[in-house]
Amino acid sequence: MDTQVEPTAAGHEYDLPPMRLTVLGATGSVGQSAIDIVLRNPGRFDVVAVVANSNAEELAILARKTSAKLAVVAREECLGQLRDALAGSGIEAAAGEAAVLDAAARPTDMVIGAIVGAAGLKPTLAAVAQGNSVALANKECLVSAGALFMAEVRRSGTTLLPVDSEHSAIFQVFENGNAEQIEKIILTASGGPFRTMPLDAMHKVTPAQALKHPNWDMGSRITIDSATMMNKGFEVIEAFHLFQIGQDQLEVLVHPQSAVHGLVQYRDGSLLAQLGSPDMRTPIAHCLAWPKRMSVPVERLDLAKIGSLTFEAPDQVRFPALRLALEAMKRGGGATTILNAADEVAVAAFLAGQIGFMDIPAVVESCLEALDARHGGRELMDVDDVLAVDAEARKTCGQWIAGR
Ligand SMILES: NC(=O)c1ccc[n+]([C@@H]2O[C@H](COP(=O)([O-])OP(=O)(O)OC[C@H]3O[C@@H](n4cnc5c(N)ncnc54)[C@H](OP(=O)(O)O)[C@@H]3O)[C@@H](O)[C@H]2O)c1
Repeated sequence: MDTQVEPTAAGHEYDLPPMRLTVLGATGSVGQSAIDIVLRNPGRFDVVAVVANSNAEELAILARKTSAKLAVVAREECLGQLRDALAGSGIEAAAGEAAVLDAAARPTDMVIGAIVGAAGLKPTLAAVAQGNSVALANKECLVSAGALFMAEVRRSGTTLLPVDSEHSAIFQVFENGNAEQIEKIILTASGGPFRTMPLDAMHKVTPAQALKHPNWDMGSRITIDSATMMNKGFEVIEAFHLFQIGQDQLEVLVHPQSAVHGLVQYRDGSLLAQLGSPDMRTPIAHCLAWPKRMSVPVERLDLAKIGSLTFEAPDQVRFPALRLALEAMKRGGGATTILNAADEVAVAAFLAGQIGFMDIPAVVESCLEALDARHGGRELMDVDDVLAVDAEARKTCGQWIAGR
């Protein structure tokens, strides 16, 4: 995303108050979309901290552009590079896990939780525990540790807003006063690049093919997860925790145009939906202005140009990852922690050319089976328990991949 941006044409965000903001995962796809909004609204955002893993050069550029107070890289060996890139700016530089947790917990009005993977769990929890409002993109927090994460949200009394476009859509049409009148929640899925590809051909899919999402421009892990439809399974689990609704009230509908992002069906037969262009700046801006709205220069949805919106049921035979995620959600406890960890390892192995595309769900399924007796359905006690199950799943998958 080009962050050489002009201020928003409207120039006046009426009565939106100034906001202190921290961006975890600032150098990523979601992080850069958030920074784009910051740069278009000079004077509104006071950036407390920006955090990344190892991309010190890019982080320093973003920190300078936003006049952030603090920039942190998780990888300690990147601190020298970050310090050099920030020399003379007056911006504090730090590195390491403790520094990331400190950045997340610094008092601020909102933390954008956009680290990828289970690595986002502890920092996002640190923000929640501090009582900082959180705009959550890191769905892995809810897949890996949903019950614990939501318990901490309730304990701290913090505000949790969804960044994921489907959950933002549902949040926008979810009538809080009428939650018990909801029949079902529907998450839409583009179906990814292989929606109509025969199963035989899917075995030969390359990383380059899988990284080409038809509608969304995202980081590599979520792009591969979208191609396998594991991402949609994660999103159902995310919705289960966020909206505290019955598992049998959650549905997935394939909608290739990615115009309708989510729907809520009420008892009177009304189906409420949110529509928009596939651009993450809309759901991010929704969090940054909530409960108001703010201007964002995303392409407006031209329904006449789109012409028709189509919907179809997902195919769980060609997309076994979706089935595995739904089964893990039903099993509960450690099963979804294993699901996420196994998928992270399998996606990395696929991108490294070590396994095939259809091996991703195969690795995840074998790991779920191997660890089910020990952790499936077992309520995890705390974050250390979650991270221990996560580590065990990664090891099991690594052995499976090495032994092929
Ligand atoms: N992209 C989307 O449109 C989208 C939509 C909905 C939800 N999400 C969710 O949002 C999250 C981020 O996705 P993304 O597509 O933006 O990912 P991405 O482009 O791969 O960016 C990941 C970000 O996380 C940082 N990071 C990775 N490991 C870290 C660690 N251990 N400590 C601190 N920072 C770390 C990376 O830093 P480096 O650059 O230094 O590696 C980078 O800033 C994911 O959970 C994804 O599922 C994304």
